[in-house]
This record gives sequence, structure tokens and C-alpha cells, in this order.
Amino acid sequence: MMSPMKNLPMCQFFTNSRTYVPLLLLLLGLQQGLAQELGDHQYTTEAIEEGSRVYTQQCALCHGPQGALIDGVDLRRGQFPTVRSDADLRNLISSGAGEGRMPAFELRDDEMNGVIAYIRAGFDADGIAVKIGDPGRGQILFQGKGECASCHRVNGVGPRTAPDLSFIGAIRTPASLQRNLLDPATALLPINKSVRLVTRNEETIVGRRLNEDTYTVQVIDSQERLRSLKKSDLVSYEISDAPSKQPTTLSSDEVADVIGYLLTLRGLQ
Ligand code: HEC
Ligand code: HEC
Repeated sequence: MMSPMKNLPMCQFFTNSRTYVPLLLLLLGLQQGLAQELGDHQYTTEAIEEGSRVYTQQCALCHGPQGALIDGVDLRRGQFPTVRSDADLRNLISSGAGEGRMPAFELRDDEMNGVIAYIRAGFDADGIAVKIGDPGRGQILFQGKGECASCHRVNGVGPRTAPDLSFIGAIRTPASLQRNLLDPATALLPINKSVRLVTRNEETIVGRRLNEDTYTVQVIDSQERLRSLKKSDLVSYEISDAPSKQPTTLSSDEVADVIGYLLTLRGLQ
């Protein structure tokens, strides 16, 4: 629950040392932009609960209690035709949509944060509300500092040693994307495990398993070649439980941006 905060010395500082609060308030007063950013690193359970109330009163009438009553929109599962980031969501709610079919709402800040948190937590008060940042910044992080592009392929560009992420936004929820970045060991899909195979010809193949049935196994080897092997040709077949990647060192705001970018990856459009 708290893990998205762990890269945030400022937040810890904020909550741990009461003595510095006046100083901090002064600082925040001087830098409103910063204050705002610090304020919404992660949504709290209270925010999600407040959001549940706002949602029931203001949104459920049209969107339904499960959020899927309007064609092409599924609020609980995070399927929006145009909205990507939390900022988009904020704009949409305060300006309305569908040429007047959805009215503009004037919500207080806590109501707005709450309803976004409630949507981002998948309507689950116990869920983790995943903050979703700016896709443009996320793309830059993906290709640069985050080093994601050194392992992952997107829209035909990049290596094949890790799963191709071209469709990832269509098949994973924000929470599962976040878990993969912050805690890849628990997020690992069994099929994606790394394997080490030795064939009868004494060739050793180290790679990532793509698929397996009773008689064959398909892997991407370390040279990025797709190999399909008959199990009867193998003298050894080891599946590693070791996580194939480390948790990201990006800050929680940067992770939010990367998730924002991943959610735009829905195949070539
Ligand atoms: C009077 C009916 C109505 C109410 C009330 C309403 N909506 Fe909507 N909402 C719609 C319609 C209709 C659409 C589809 C708009 C379109 O087709 O562009 C929509 C679309 C959306 C979308 C998807 C937008 C996109 O393009 O990605 C989101 C998100 C959303 N609503 C959130 C909310 C939230 C949050 C509330 C409550 C604060 C709310 N809506 C209240 C009717 C409503
Ligand atoms: C060292 C190589 C490596 C790096 C760097 C890396 N990944 Fe991965 N990633 C993998 C491998 C291997 C898997 C598949 C095994 C697993 O799920 O742990 C994976 C899985 C994933 C998945 C889940 C795919 C699915 O089908 O659910 C996502 C999403 C993802 N990575 C995103 C990222 C992002 C975003 C970054 C950059 C912040 C990143 N990865 C950095 C190797 C890497």
C-alpha cells in the first residue's frame, strides 16, 4: 500500500518531522506548484471513500453503480475513449463531455481528488488508487532514464528479450502495471519465467519462455531468436524463479507518468 511513496524523501520528511511543518508550509506557500505535486503523490483510503460518495451522488445516475452503463466507457476498469492521465480526467469532469450529454461538474478539490482516486482504485475502497501521470513525459522516461526500452519492444522498435508492450494498455489494469514496476517479483507471470535449456547437441539456450505444451517449448533466446524445441531433444530444462528484472528506481511521480504512457499502448492505431 505504501510502496509508491518509498522513493519520496520529501513526503516522509513531511509526515515524520512535525517540527519542520511551519518551515515547510512557508516553502509550500512560496512554491504552489510544488505543493500541489506533493499533495497528490498517492491517493489515500479517505480520498477513495470520499470519492465513493461523490460517485454515487453525481456520476452513478448515468454511468451506473459498476461504471459501465455508457457505451465505450468503463470507469471501474479504466476504459476511457479519450482520457489518459489524471489531469485529463480532471479536465473532463470540470468541463463535461459528449456535447452536453455529460454536464460539467464544479467539485471541491477533495471531491475531485476523491472521485479520481475512487475510479483509479477500480471502485474498491480497499484497493490501491494508482496515480496516472502524463503519457508524454512517460514516453521520454520509458526511452531514457527508465531504461525500459533497453529490454522491451514497442510498435516494432526495440529488443525481444522482454515481453512486447505494444498492446499492454489494452490488456493490463493500471494496478497490475504499477505492481510490475514496483514489485516485479510478485507480478511475474509464470509463463514469462526465464529458462535454461540444454539440448542433446550440447547447446545451452538461456532465454524467456513464451509458450509451452506437453511436447514442445518456445523461448526467445539471448540473441532474441525465437526457438521452438522438442522436449524429447532436451537433456535439461530448468525454470528459474528468480525475478528477471529489478524494481524500478524511478520516483513515484515518474512511475505515474510511465503508467500513463503504457496505458496509451493499445496496438498500432
Ligand atoms: C448526465 C449523464 C452523465 C453524468 C451525470 C456523468 N457522466 Fe460521464 N459521461 C457521460 C456520457 C454520455 C459520456 C460519453 C461522452 C462521449 O461520448 O464523448 C461520459 C463519459 C465519461 C468519461 C470518459 C471520457 C473520455 O472521453 O474518455 C469519463 C471518465 C466520465 N464520463 C466520468 C464521469 C464522472 C467522474 C462523473 C461524475 C462526476 C460523470 N462522468 C458523470 C454522461 C454522464
Ligand atoms: C532488464 C530488462 C528489463 C527492464 C530494464 C525492464 N523490464 Fe519490464 N520486463 C522484463 C521482463 C523479462 C519481463 C517479463 C517477466 C516479468 O514479468 O517479470 C517484464 C515485464 C514487464 C511488464 C509486464 C508485461 C505483461 O505481460 O504483463 C511490464 C508492463 C513491463 N515489464 C514494463 C516495464 C517498464 C515500464 C520498464 C521501465 C521502467 C521496464 N519494464 C524495464 C524486463 C525488463
